[in-house]
Amino acid sequence: MAELMNGKEVSAAKRAELKERVAALNEKGIQVGLAVIIVGNNSASRVYVNNKKKGCEEIGVNSYEYALPEETTQAQLLSLIDELNNDSRVNGILCQLPLPSHIDEQSVINSINPEKDVDAFHPFNVGHIMIGDYTYLPCTPAGIMEILKYYNVSVAGKRCVVIGRSNIVGKPMAMLMLKENGTVEICHSRTAGLAEETSRADILVAAVGKADFVTADMVKDGAVVVDVGMNRNAEGKLCGDVCFDEVEKKASYITPVPGGVGPMTITMLLENTVRSAEKIV
Ligand code: GUN
Repeated sequence: MAELMNGKEVSAAKRAELKERVAALNEKGIQVGLAVIIVGNNSASRVYVNNKKKGCEEIGVNSYEYALPEETTQAQLLSLIDELNNDSRVNGILCQLPLPSHIDEQSVINSINPEKDVDAFHPFNVGHIMIGDYTYLPCTPAGIMEILKYYNVSVAGKRCVVIGRSNIVGKPMAMLMLKENGTVEICHSRTAGLAEETSRADILVAAVGKADFVTADMVKDGAVVVDVGMNRNAEGKLCGDVCFDEVEKKASYITPVPGGVGPMTITMLLENTVRSAEKIV
């Protein structure tokens, strides 16, 4: 039976530290602010944005929400971002993805001042991650690394397999594990013999976006399994990418959904926001 890696517990420890850092900035007369933009009525995005605002409140960061209607034009969105780039109350700008299909996401990401890009999605920050400079951390992968560290799971020398090649999770996850001297493989929908690849993993990260995608036969005995998924199964219940009930019997460590990776993603966003404010001291 696997030991649970509790993201809420790791998150609480990290947020306590962040709260102290914000208080130290406040004592110097500096307020910390995060602007959160949401466009349209995506219900999952609404939940994420509310949790991000709650996280800000918890550690003393001011959050400024901009909820824009679905029909917002790209020009209007870029104009708001331009305003926020020049607003000294705002240390970080987060534009919740996905955006409505008439808006080009990459153009929006490119318009955020890299100094305020607390998602670390701008090509400037992506480039820095590639060369191992983590001024701004990629939130979800960095949260996973914190969880592994908390549970004393060492990455060095391990065979690490990531399923999923997204810019938000898969690619930066591979970079972080490589920096920690893991031997890293990225698998995806076109990978031939996927189960054979994943079965060799000492550390398996599932970032597929499909409920119950990773089954026990795809996992090595004693593997560490990290589930990035946030899906609804046929019964409408929140679940990850990993078939938890059967995989937990085989793994040595596993993250649950909810309460695993999710809370850490927001905590690392807060870390980036605090870092942004600390840079101006
Ligand atoms: N949509 C899903 N995950 C994320 C994230 O980490 N940041 C933003 N901005 N949008 C997302």
